[in-house]
Amino acid sequence: MEQRQLGGAGIRVSAVGLGTGGQWGGRVDQEGAIAILWAALDAGVTYVDTADIYGTWYRGTSTAEEMLGEALQGIRHRVVLGTKGCQAVGPGPNQRGSSRGHLMQALEQSLRRLRTDYVDLYQVHQYDPSTSDQETMRALDDMVSSGKVRYVGASNYPAWRITRCNGLAERYGWAPLVTTQAHYNLLEREAENELLPMCRALGVGLLPYFPLANGLLAGRYAPGSPPPADSRAAAFERTRRYLARYATPEGYAALARLDAWAAARGHTLAELAIAWLLAQPAVSCVITGASAAWQIQANAEAAQWQLSAGELGEIDHLLAPSAQEGR
Ligand SMILES: NC(=O)c1ccc[n+]([C@@H]2O[C@H](COP(=O)([O-])OP(=O)(O)OC[C@H]3O[C@@H](n4cnc5c(N)ncnc54)[C@H](OP(=O)(O)O)[C@@H]3O)[C@@H](O)[C@H]2O)c1
Repeated sequence: MEQRQLGGAGIRVSAVGLGTGGQWGGRVDQEGAIAILWAALDAGVTYVDTADIYGTWYRGTSTAEEMLGEALQGIRHRVVLGTKGCQAVGPGPNQRGSSRGHLMQALEQSLRRLRTDYVDLYQVHQYDPSTSDQETMRALDDMVSSGKVRYVGASNYPAWRITRCNGLAERYGWAPLVTTQAHYNLLEREAENELLPMCRALGVGLLPYFPLANGLLAGRYAPGSPPPADSRAAAFERTRRYLARYATPEGYAALARLDAWAAARGHTLAELAIAWLLAQPAVSCVITGASAAWQIQANAEAAQWQLSAGELGEIDHLLAPSAQEGR
């Protein structure tokens, strides 16, 4: 597996990573989680992504972090572990946000659930308009100084805010945001307007999420058919809402063109979706979610496919009609 620099950090991670967002807890049990993690490790995956809220939709506590903590017993050193805090973990006014008060508490809870004494990448899950960037960045720097966190990153931040945060970090000698996560895939290219240019200019690594558009870009759904019973769309209303946005007649037509193009080259649509992201400058690691071991193995394979500039142009051409309508 190709190893890439984790954005502005000195460490390297596998080009394809494992996500635990819409799968672990409820849809994937502990035994399944261990099988998926080991399949990922065997395929050369080293970056594993989670968050304090993943799995809370099943029973109110973070099953994903707890399951990962169990699965990582004895092998913690083999992964670069990323988690996140900021989203609401309870009804209280300080059980959310990127204040020093909440983030410090959220980190302690994550470490306890993950059964580790450090997180490699601690990410602020979304930007919090009610907390100053100074407060958040200073708190993140203290986490790094304490040794409980090695690097810090953002998620769902606008480009200007990362620019401001890293300006503060440079001025005060604080740990900078080395990465950011954003919704980015073949069908959703908003990140190309501001975020990717900022990432390239500032050396911030992009970790695209929803790389397979919740499975749509992996051929999980067909036009006119109900979602398969074992699919994420069958489990979650929000996935059905997501599909309603991208699984349009134009979207399916673009998928059919891309699928045929990939098949003619001996690849699947999912492999194309991942290889295309890996061809975008500034992408450090494509975090793919998997609800079965074979899925992460197949996704890891995609890292071997390197698309040429000419092929990227052909893909843009195949996407053009729906991409233009979507913008
Ligand atoms: N920072 C953020 O705000 C944020 C937001 C969302 C996600 N994330 C992170 O990004 C990760 C990836 O996103 P995601 O898991 O939500 O979406 P995704 O990677 O776009 O889609 C994952 C789904 O695609 C299907 N799939 C995966 N590999 C496949 C394969 N080889 N063949 C066929 N189907 C395949 C599976 O669907 P079925 O389960 O239906 O089989 C899987 O659950 C998350 O796990 C999470 O760690 C971060």
